[in-house]
Amino acid sequence: MTDISKLEIEIMAEIANAADEAALEAVRIAALGKKGSVSAIMKSLGAMTPDERKEMGPKLNGLKTAITDAVGTRAAELREVALEARLVSEKIDVTLPVRPQQRGTIHPVSQVWDEVVQIFADLGFSVAEGPHIETDFYNFEALNIPPEHPARQEHDTFYFNPREDGERMVLRTHTSPVQIRTMEKTEPPIRIIAPGRTYRCDSDQTHTPMFHQVEGLVLDSDTHLGNLKWCLEEFCKAFFELDEVKMRFRASHFPFTEPSMEVDIGCSWEDGQVKIGVGDDWMEILGSGMVHPDVIRAGGLDPDKVQGFAFGMGIDRLAMLKYGIPDLRAFFEADLRWLRHYGFSALNVPELAGGLS
Ligand code: PHE
Repeated sequence: MTDISKLEIEIMAEIANAADEAALEAVRIAALGKKGSVSAIMKSLGAMTPDERKEMGPKLNGLKTAITDAVGTRAAELREVALEARLVSEKIDVTLPVRPQQRGTIHPVSQVWDEVVQIFADLGFSVAEGPHIETDFYNFEALNIPPEHPARQEHDTFYFNPREDGERMVLRTHTSPVQIRTMEKTEPPIRIIAPGRTYRCDSDQTHTPMFHQVEGLVLDSDTHLGNLKWCLEEFCKAFFELDEVKMRFRASHFPFTEPSMEVDIGCSWEDGQVKIGVGDDWMEILGSGMVHPDVIRAGGLDPDKVQGFAFGMGIDRLAMLKYGIPDLRAFFEADLRWLRHYGFSALNVPELAGGLS
């Protein structure tokens, strides 16, 4: 074997073994560089006889070309491998959940609050608000509950110390003051709900000092009791996600409505768990009635021109019934295990079209 073919085999092997582009470049320089092995033989051409040169010249040129080509091919291979490695290391798996470490959940009260708003918004209601710290006028007087009225005892009111002018502010005992505040600033027809916090000095398994209610108020020229019934039936069907809900309107008494009705829904009990919509038991879920003329007057409107209905229900209680949560007090203990168990995904927003829960 000639020296040249031996050299060629050696160099080709080095090219094939070059692990990266830097190593490949070193092989190329060691062969074709100024002081390279091939260049050294080239230099010796001058000292050869013309016949030798005729034979060696083309061979050496062929070797140079072969080396250059082989380096080019190997370089392309190495670039391909490097790109492949980068693609593997930089790849993002788009099938992963958005936030695999998602920790927080939506509290059942917030969930039910949003569900209630969603349902009434669909029926054409807007959302109204009022302050938590109220005057005696808005919480009681304007709602037809004068100072000596027995209903005041039932409300277990939190009173503030008297102000300099003698006025004693209260933590609102219900959301009904929002009825008055809305009438004062809204031209009828009125169609609002007012979800919010309410306060009563009461604490046991079914009562917490702070709880949530949602008030409803509809006032127009001829709104009647039939509208009230329909509206609440539609609400219950949508809220409990049932085609039919058994409901009972039971005569009751509130100072601010006349006539007044408490509304029960049909239910049954199985192993201490309540099932809504079927069965022979009844569960009270809200108070309602036709707004008393005195209340309409206190709100600055004329009871000869507008009439309508109001209702109030407990959001926490609705949450317990719909989601089978047994103890009300746990709602406000901020126990993370409880929240993880009963909480809702923040990415799952309540809407009627997809079912609410
Ligand atoms: N405010 C009443 C309560 O807290 C509920 C209610 C509201 C009843 C509106 C009738 C009309 O118990």
